[in-house]
Amino acid sequence: MALKELIFASHNAGKIKEIREMIEPLGIELKTYKDIDIPDVEETGTTFAENSLLKSSKIAEITGIACIADDSGLCVDALNGAPGVYSARYAPDRDFDKGMEKLLAEIAKSRNPDRSAHFSCVISLAYPDGKYELFEGRINGKIAEQKQGTGGFGYDPIFIPEGYDKSFAELGNEIKNKISHRGRAMQKLSQYLRNL
Ligand code: IMP
Repeated sequence: MALKELIFASHNAGKIKEIREMIEPLGIELKTYKDIDIPDVEETGTTFAENSLLKSSKIAEITGIACIADDSGLCVDALNGAPGVYSARYAPDRDFDKGMEKLLAEIAKSRNPDRSAHFSCVISLAYPDGKYELFEGRINGKIAEQKQGTGGFGYDPIFIPEGYDKSFAELGNEIKNKISHRGRAMQKLSQYLRNL
């Protein structure tokens, strides 16, 4: 059952570019909010899988076209997994400089010396008939003492992936995309689509 077209439910230009580069060589046309009238779906779930699936399944149902969506975030052990699914909302005014300061302050306040953390991403692919597949990616690491580097986005400057001594913001996109939570989930999605 080869797919001819897929909707990607994201407004994020960086993610759209990444997904397009992976999907189009497979002969699948990628449609986004720019090409088709699709609603914004609120992320009311409490897990990455739930939020991801809320978006993809609603849009697949409305449009009759298979849809992929993702949800991701940063989970800090010393904060019992926070900010997790609330990672975007955790940053005051959606300003991630403020968000990182807030996170560093909360870790200091917790007096827990454990700086372990991980990024998680769940990509869901939902079909109009209600069937779906989930692709998960995770990268373990630790929270830096302070911001390091200016590349990337979100919490990249304070996240040091396991096996490296530089933050995601210092490593650059090529390395980050190979090892990141989203990169790993995308590799699984890509393998699934190749085998259809
Ligand atoms: P969403 O998956 O687009 O809802 O993103 C959730 C939030 O998690 C983003 O706004 C970022 O704050 C954070 N996040 C997710 N992935 C990354 C990443 O690769 N680097 C830094 N922050 C990220």
